[in-house]
Amino acid sequence: MRVVIADHPLITHKLTVLRDKHTPPPTFRLLVEELMMLLGYEATRDVRVEAVQIETPVAPTAGVRLSQPAPLIVPILRAGLGMLDGMVKMLPTAEVGFLGMKRDEQTLQPETYAERLPDDLSGRQCFVLDPMLATGGSLAAAVEFLFARGAEEVTAVCILGTPEGISALRDQVGDRSATLVLGALDQGLDEHAYIVPGLGDAGDRLYGTV
Ligand code: PRP
Ligand code: URA
Repeated sequence: MRVVIADHPLITHKLTVLRDKHTPPPTFRLLVEELMMLLGYEATRDVRVEAVQIETPVAPTAGVRLSQPAPLIVPILRAGLGMLDGMVKMLPTAEVGFLGMKRDEQTLQPETYAERLPDDLSGRQCFVLDPMLATGGSLAAAVEFLFARGAEEVTAVCILGTPEGISALRDQVGDRSATLVLGALDQGLDEHAYIVPGLGDAGDRLYGTV
């Protein structure tokens, strides 16, 4: 599995505001979308395109457009939903599938409570969105779901990750084709498996405590 850790002053600046516990939900939501767009630039580096010919007002020229089948974007509910608009702005022709997952805070195992994905993902490029890669359990389960449906290539985009999460994801992926794009690699996990220094509970900060 290829791991890309974004290294850009604008990302670090936005991340700093995002991490701050005083940042209110409206700003937090906006920053998650903006960070997704910046990370989306890295995540779509190998998006499939095909050659086209067009005419500018001055001359004919060659260009590219996104290939079919369209890429599939899969936000992991709830927190991944905060990244969806940013990614759709980058890939307007993409289709969107949904996975709802909740980490059991005692066992730390992910429970899947919703799934709306195409039955057959053969030949599809898939982009999974979740701001937090903590133990890696949720993302590993999500990625397995997509490979089991036939996805050829999976790119996971997370705003924050840990060494433990990367290692769990790498074990799950094995030799299948996957890339992980991270906004930052944090130190690790605390005794409640929260990312340190992290940003707290991403879902709660986006949508409030349910
Ligand atoms: C958070 C986060 C990830 C998961 C990460 O979601 O958005 O999906 O935890 O933890 P892991 O790497 O240890 O599995 P949560 O389960 O809190 O649900 P939410 O998005 O509804 O808040
Ligand atoms: N889920 C979150 O939202 N934050 C963490 O730090 C870990 C899991």
